[in-house]
Amino acid sequence: MSEARATRPMPHEREINMTPATSRANARLETRFNDSTVPARAGAGLKAEHVDAILQDDYRIGFLEVHAENYMGDGGAPHRALSAIRQNFPLCVHGVGLSIGSEKALDKAHLDRLKKVVERYEPGLVSEHLAWSTHDNSYYNDLLPVPYDQPTLDRVCDHIDQVQEVLGRKILLENPSTYLQFDHSTMSETDFIAQIARRTGCGLLLDINNVFVSATNQHYRPLTYLSEFPLEKVEEIHLAGHATDTDDDGRPLLIDAHDRPVDDAVWKLYDIVIGQMGPVPTLIEWDNDVPDWPVLRREALRADEIIERRAGNYMLGSRHAAIC
Ligand SMILES: [Fe+2]
Repeated sequence: MSEARATRPMPHEREINMTPATSRANARLETRFNDSTVPARAGAGLKAEHVDAILQDDYRIGFLEVHAENYMGDGGAPHRALSAIRQNFPLCVHGVGLSIGSEKALDKAHLDRLKKVVERYEPGLVSEHLAWSTHDNSYYNDLLPVPYDQPTLDRVCDHIDQVQEVLGRKILLENPSTYLQFDHSTMSETDFIAQIARRTGCGLLLDINNVFVSATNQHYRPLTYLSEFPLEKVEEIHLAGHATDTDDDGRPLLIDAHDRPVDDAVWKLYDIVIGQMGPVPTLIEWDNDVPDWPVLRREALRADEIIERRAGNYMLGSRHAAIC
């Protein structure tokens, strides 16, 4: 650790400062939207083809989530649709392009564009990935893994500090789906993520499908991972479908495809996590081969049923489903 780093205040001990511009923008937006709080219910990723069905549906979904990068232009149909949704529902903004794990400095222009989206729609939650996707002038269409070592930890913490300071708010960091491990990692993924949350004050987004995909691909128990994960920092959960393939040795290889219903094994893990944590905002992610709205709605209802059942148990104090 460098001397400069050792003498700076630990980020979790200091306030995340809102700039005057952010404060003015938020004050303006508070009069535009009634409530930004994301409820501890099921939500869905917003797709343009579902907007009318969502607005007309008797089932009122808990919240919608959008990828920030789809709304970084100034106007047009995407903003008209999202404005209509935001007038009626709480919103989460999920970034996929900041490249928080990058070796290089964050792209300030991209961060400014993210800030504009956040100021415009005042989402209840803002999240990004523990991953990298850019290097110099190369841009990859994947969320690539980082090694879990001290230099990477310091760099990721610096990047999250910068994001939170520019946005003037806390973000959530999502655990990755992984397909390999780095030989030079010196700590576990759960320890790495816990240290990030402790040092930066960020919250966590627990993607349970990612846990299942990574655990299957790397031959460990997902429940072991979940028992080590800092659940007390989790403010949102993701659920998604995965594709099944095989590796060169004929063993199962899962791909985080977001193109089908949530797998039953992932639902079981979700049931256990909600039993342990109590109700948490839970997003159904479905980004490829997107079905009609009733199919997504059915997945959301399944999550709502688990939340309601577990909330009853939770309130009765029977937190018997400890993760172990
Ligand atoms: Fe996710």
